[in-house]
Amino acid sequence: MSLVVLEHPAEHVALLRLNRPEARNALSPELRAELRSHFLSLSEERAIRAIIVTGDRKAFAAGADIRSMVSIGPAEMMRRGDDLNWGAIRHCPKPVIAAVNGYALGGGCELAMHADIIVAGEGALFGQPEVKLGIMPGAGGTQRLARAVGRYRAMLMLLTGQPITAREAYEAGLVSKITPDEDTVPEAIAIARAIAAMPPLAVAEIKQVLHAGLDAPLDTALMLERRAAYLLFDSFDKREAMTAFLEKRSATFSGT
Ligand code: HXC
Repeated sequence: MSLVVLEHPAEHVALLRLNRPEARNALSPELRAELRSHFLSLSEERAIRAIIVTGDRKAFAAGADIRSMVSIGPAEMMRRGDDLNWGAIRHCPKPVIAAVNGYALGGGCELAMHADIIVAGEGALFGQPEVKLGIMPGAGGTQRLARAVGRYRAMLMLLTGQPITAREAYEAGLVSKITPDEDTVPEAIAIARAIAAMPPLAVAEIKQVLHAGLDAPLDTALMLERRAAYLLFDSFDKREAMTAFLEKRSATFSGT
């Protein structure tokens, strides 16, 4: 049985469903390896224009698998090379949407924060409880969380291990959209379809510039933005989109 199930809910859209319900989708080394290999191949697949990651109604993912960590030391942690797994998601050029229901804790919250858009069901809970285990986040839980919700709310979550609700996460800027629990995946699919209907080169440049620019000084970021914006003027899809607008017809994009 696959630990990550690949589905194609709409044209150009891939959905990855974490499939360890008996362990609240805890991210075992085997599950992470499957996730990585899906991301590597979907990143290269031209037909795919958006990727959704989801879990089940109880848990998006309850974090790294505690059973697999209880008796290992730092050398084994290094040997596992987990950053290669995260890197496959981090460097994915396609938009990634997390559809979160239930628990998104520890590495599960970090997985959600690897996405470009987070859709959360009303019952979702986001938290970084690592401190309760005598460790701390190791895949962006201090850095991405602080950038998303601000240092003071992040510090409260990280030092107490207490989760926040989907509503609190939305108000803090950690969640893009809240839905009733049963609508989380359909909403993520609707967003993915909307993105898939856009010119792929423009989508890829927007994603890359937003992420790279946020970590650069403003002047550098604005230069990156300008360069990418000008570059898109060379695409076939730009000509097609503008011509279609002027001819009052819908455009057909080829990703060129
Ligand atoms: C391994 C886990 C697990 C986890 C749940 N399970 N979370 N197994 N690793 N992270 C297993 C339980 O052991 C149990 O197995 C089954 O899933 C159901 O869990 P319950 O606790 O009975 O369910 P529930 O009462 O619904 O509570 C759900 C929960 C709780 C709130 C999510 O399970 C929980 O607190 N889990 C741990 C969350 C956590 O601390 N995550 C951070 C991990 S560290 P059995 O066999 O008993 O049925 C991390 C970063 C590491 O993510 C970074 C290193 C650098």
